[in-house]
Amino acid sequence: MFATASASFIRRGARTAIPSFDRMRQSRYFHLTPQALEKLNVQGLAERVNLEGQNVLMRVDLNVPLSKEDDVTVTDDTRLRAIVPTAKFLLDKGANIILCSHFGRPKGEIIETGKNGRLNPVVGPLKELLGVDVKKVNDCMGPEVEEAAKSLKKGDVLLLENTRFYKGETKNDPELSAGLGKLADYFVMDAFGTAHRAHSSTAGVAEHMKLSAAGFLLDKELKYLKGAVDEPNRPLCAIIGGAKVSTKLPVIESLIEKCDTILLGGGMIFTFYKALGYNIGKSMVEEDYVELAGKLMKQAEEKGVKLLLPPDVVLADKFAEDATTAVAKANEISGDWMGLDVGPETLELFEEEIGKSNTIVFNGPMGVFEMKPFATGTVRVAELMAQATDRGATTIVGGGDSVAAVNQAGLGQRVSHISTGGGASLELLEGKVLPGVAALTEV
Ligand code: 3PG
Ligand code: MG
Repeated sequence: MFATASASFIRRGARTAIPSFDRMRQSRYFHLTPQALEKLNVQGLAERVNLEGQNVLMRVDLNVPLSKEDDVTVTDDTRLRAIVPTAKFLLDKGANIILCSHFGRPKGEIIETGKNGRLNPVVGPLKELLGVDVKKVNDCMGPEVEEAAKSLKKGDVLLLENTRFYKGETKNDPELSAGLGKLADYFVMDAFGTAHRAHSSTAGVAEHMKLSAAGFLLDKELKYLKGAVDEPNRPLCAIIGGAKVSTKLPVIESLIEKCDTILLGGGMIFTFYKALGYNIGKSMVEEDYVELAGKLMKQAEEKGVKLLLPPDVVLADKFAEDATTAVAKANEISGDWMGLDVGPETLELFEEEIGKSNTIVFNGPMGVFEMKPFATGTVRVAELMAQATDRGATTIVGGGDSVAAVNQAGLGQRVSHISTGGGASLELLEGKVLPGVAALTEV
């Protein structure tokens, strides 16, 4: 028997016809997602003004991982590649681009190297991807930066320094917003990964611009992550994993309103098991959220949404790669065992549910996928996503860990959309308005 959210669940009845995602993709209708609808995009910007020789400040998310060995080499350039279409479009229009981004969390300190340091490590890769020279300055506002901005000519690309060297950045400080605002008349927001932050360079700066538009990346992310969930080709299935239930409960709550099926995995399932009164051994649990997990299961039952918990789990005698492992039914965990992955029966159940769905969203790993013995569940879900894409389903992966898992399994090209945002994609799925989007010019 499945460990369902409730002893029995009511299947949803027939729904009113909803246009298929493919049709939406081709039609204007698909573009009419609430957040995308009202905002100017970069194409609209180029239609409204002649950008030739104009400075355009482009907020991008260059927050990429660096090699732990040399602290310089970019180990995953997904976010760099993702900004190329907008940058090239602007260059084609003759604009001069000023790129700005944060890098890590330096918290207002100037740090020379490494993850929270200067943006120097991305200069080389950006030059290569854009096929043009990229100049960099060592600050993001002030007289020297203004001078560099003023001397830009058609087609130049200038990269500003890590915006978080200023404490005010994360406080949406008006002085930094105004400082950035002096560099250009037009703003293009393409930092989807940071669009959930109300910071000077993502939100405040827009007040100092003649026009502020969404870049292609931001637009695409909104279309997939909002469009697919708000106007899905049903059945809509969400697979939600990850260790911390506290960060996932709001998104599960919101998905209950939208999904036909929700499959849960990852460390957070034990908090749900606890709510069902199961013994969970030494598995991780967030005691403060047990009650809320119980409430969500009830909510799903009342709405007739299938909220499925894994019927079996992979247990380990310690949190280590060389642990002794065993498979157990979810309600038969005992002693000091801890659950670190979903089990084989679960994966059969997930295969069946994914197989029935036409839109599938995957956010958060199913187990401790960094350790080989506990990566099976996450890798299998990634494979099932790829198979679903092959048969025409729309498949969307969001969240740093699940994206890494899909890429590690070599399946990155085989899903419809891989999000460049972790926190941002979650907030969007929660139905929140992203400050980086709200700040853009209305159309
Ligand atoms: C990220 O990697 O999550 C984004 O770049 C945003 O960074 P932040 O979580 O430090 O705001
Ligand atoms: Mg983050």
